[in-house]
Amino acid sequence: MQHFDIILRSGTIVADGAGTVADIGCRDGRIVALGDLRAAHATDIIDCRGLHVLPGIIDPHVHLRDPGDPAVETIPDGTRAAVLGGVTAVFDMPNTQDPVISAAALDRKRTIIAAEAWCDVGLYVGGTKGNIADLGMLEAEPNVCAIKVFAGSAPPANLVEDDVNLEALMRSGARTVCYHSEDEARLQARRALFGTGEPYRMHMQWRDEECAFLGTRRLMALARKTGRRAHILHVSTAEELAYMRDFKGLGTVEVLVNHLTQVGPEVYDRLGGYAIMNPPIRDRRHYEAAWAAVNAGDVDCIGSDHAPHSREAKERPWPLTAAGLTGVQTLVPIMLDHVAAERLSLHRMAQLMSSGPARVYGAVGKGRIAVGYDADFTVVDLRKTRVIEESWIASPCGWTPFAGQACTGWPIMTIVRGHTVMREDEVLDAPAGRLVSFA
Ligand code: DOR
Repeated sequence: MQHFDIILRSGTIVADGAGTVADIGCRDGRIVALGDLRAAHATDIIDCRGLHVLPGIIDPHVHLRDPGDPAVETIPDGTRAAVLGGVTAVFDMPNTQDPVISAAALDRKRTIIAAEAWCDVGLYVGGTKGNIADLGMLEAEPNVCAIKVFAGSAPPANLVEDDVNLEALMRSGARTVCYHSEDEARLQARRALFGTGEPYRMHMQWRDEECAFLGTRRLMALARKTGRRAHILHVSTAEELAYMRDFKGLGTVEVLVNHLTQVGPEVYDRLGGYAIMNPPIRDRRHYEAAWAAVNAGDVDCIGSDHAPHSREAKERPWPLTAAGLTGVQTLVPIMLDHVAAERLSLHRMAQLMSSGPARVYGAVGKGRIAVGYDADFTVVDLRKTRVIEESWIASPCGWTPFAGQACTGWPIMTIVRGHTVMREDEVLDAPAGRLVSFA
């Protein structure tokens, strides 16, 4: 008789376009059988009747802030937030206090993650003017999901904003490079047009559409010149989404859950500094363009850009407000609510939040419910309605821009390589996260 470590029994499996009810048998952290496994034995049988089983959701854009200020977040806190929210793997950004721009910094991160992470983690390496020559070597290091470049909107030490350095960077290494695309010169020039203490809604005027679109035009022109693939993070304008359609094969697109959910200027008037992020939340035209792009197949990944800051930093007058919003824990509930509202299908959600990130970054063993893949599952109840409350937020900073939002559809279980690490709001067992491998 067949024996498995765990069997997920009779869930509706969201895979490869089909929504069929089946059992999933897992052994040693991998999926080893799919189908009718009623005759098999297992150490643990998880009843998934009435629930949907998605391939483990990957959040490809989080800033876990470790090392940084533990009162804001640490790796254990941020990855605990991830599994509470149904996320099985996160890709962590390099702009921490000890920035991940060298092999030594990567080593330090790996040690913490191996001991303390609740979900699996991939690591970005920051591209800077100082490490361009090393990037080919750094992107080949184990567990590196991509090189991340701030082509605008970062402190000078983290910036690569000019064409000469950007071209040199694109010629160093071979894998897809991820970009924060806002044109730095235009951001700086327009800053002088606004005074401190003006309404928070001025954020989307300062950092207007052209800041982002100009950044993306410049980056894609260089990508075409050098032949180096570019992944444009948090694409936020209708103009960029239309433009990126001409770069299939060379350019891929990430859209954020915030840009699919919140709309300016209303969100600024309601949330003040808790609506401030970069690139900014924009008006309804861009929101509608983002949804059209999602459903036209013009988006490759959806992420949260989880970027916690202290309440004190969020409540400063504009534009001294720290930019960035918590989001890894609320990503799945908010997207399930969009599924309930029929803005996208559950299958499209799985494509954009699991197989999409696995494909764009080359994550090994992730992104599919199929034999041989990692036993990573996000098990959801599509009928459950629940209100997002700040008391639920695991990041010590303790706030979410989605407080008070009712969601239909909720993650019930998070399973990471066969370990059930979250069940009905409880984090179980011990941190079992591992570093993700990339092809
Ligand atoms: O709003 C943002 N905050 N955008 C970014 O790109 C960086 C992030 C942060 O690190 O706080």
